[in-house]
Amino acid sequence: MPDFEVKDVKLSSEGVRRIEWSGREMPVLFSIRARFEKTKPLAGKRIGACLHVTAETANLAITLQAGGARVYLCASNPLSTNDSVAAALAQEYGVAVFAFRGEERDDYYRHLSSVLEAKPEILMDDGADLISAAHQKDEAFCRTVLGGTEETTTGVIRFRNLEKEGKIRFPIIAVNEALTKHLFDNRYGTGQSTIDGLLRATNILLAGKKVVVAGYGWCSRGIASRARGMGSIVIITEVDPLRALEASMDGFQVMKSVEAAKIGDIFLTATGNRAIFREEHFRLMKDGAILGNSGHFDVEIDIPALEKMSKSRRTIRENLEEFQMNDGRRVYLLAQGRLLNLAAAEGHPSSVMDMSFANQALSAEYLTVKGKDLKPILYPVPEVIDREVARLKLAASGIEIDTLTTEQEDYLSSWRLGT
Ligand code: ADE
Repeated sequence: MPDFEVKDVKLSSEGVRRIEWSGREMPVLFSIRARFEKTKPLAGKRIGACLHVTAETANLAITLQAGGARVYLCASNPLSTNDSVAAALAQEYGVAVFAFRGEERDDYYRHLSSVLEAKPEILMDDGADLISAAHQKDEAFCRTVLGGTEETTTGVIRFRNLEKEGKIRFPIIAVNEALTKHLFDNRYGTGQSTIDGLLRATNILLAGKKVVVAGYGWCSRGIASRARGMGSIVIITEVDPLRALEASMDGFQVMKSVEAAKIGDIFLTATGNRAIFREEHFRLMKDGAILGNSGHFDVEIDIPALEKMSKSRRTIRENLEEFQMNDGRRVYLLAQGRLLNLAAAEGHPSSVMDMSFANQALSAEYLTVKGKDLKPILYPVPEVIDREVARLKLAASGIEIDTLTTEQEDYLSSWRLGT
């Protein structure tokens, strides 16, 4: 098996500089790395990872290797690899990387297979493709796996379905469900990086624009709050009454998507579901409407329907395509409908990935120690890990917090005191 497959190893010095720059904002992961270097909790373990190959992921891979693991890495999306980072990981840090930006479907799955061929004992996934592929191998393969971890909402949804069907073969830790992951990465990370991708692809003014955000989950609320911060008029569409109410009381306009379709200038989705913007919406959109997806898979905008309604499609600039519709209107699609924040920008900033990847590193350590005793089900990140990540982040940020006084602790543990 080749040791790596990257676009061009000559890009590695740029990659090293990017990895070092992003590391400045990852103090929690670095404190874990320092401990791993001394105690080698992952000694001899093979870790297969299917993650976006960014500078932040590089810092995770280097941390795992510092803990004694050998890391095999492929991309979790065909457009999210930074080729200089991939080159640096392969050349300078001894990581077995199989990834380049612009992978075709065959490349993508060949790279996944290259990782699985190494027979990893821990599988780290972002979107569930690697662990799903492992589940399609024979039972003997899965028996050698101590456990897996899943980074994102979409992947956790897929694994819940696998679990419901009774087909899950080893324990999987839902890293996305850790509070120190989704409250920060999904909200502030997706919020900022989606706006970043939109601006890099279009360079349009957001002030005064009507931005329609599908859903009010953690990613969507991040996008909504950042768009509002840029002066946009933000409209939320929802299917969940509680979230819709929350969005309304957070001061957003809430309406049905067919109503929003008529008035929006920009449509953004990060729901994890398919066909969020579809033919019935495309029919109603204004000439010049812009569509973008920051969800994990490119299913949220119904591109085949858009193609059917259009006579031509052309590239205007990088990550921006124009669909000339049969009735003369034009609709613009960002980053081929693939996750805009990584394809048109650089993904979430390092400071939030610091906490997400600290959870990943500590979950890998947990699986090494406890994996054999766990059942083949989906597990949350242990609360002690989640709280430790928060504690380390606060300490690294120089933020001190109070502790309860003895009287307060007594008060909270008693039922006697009232009116
Ligand atoms: N997912 C979102 N942003 C990311 C980043 N910067 N690195 C790895 N995975 C990500």
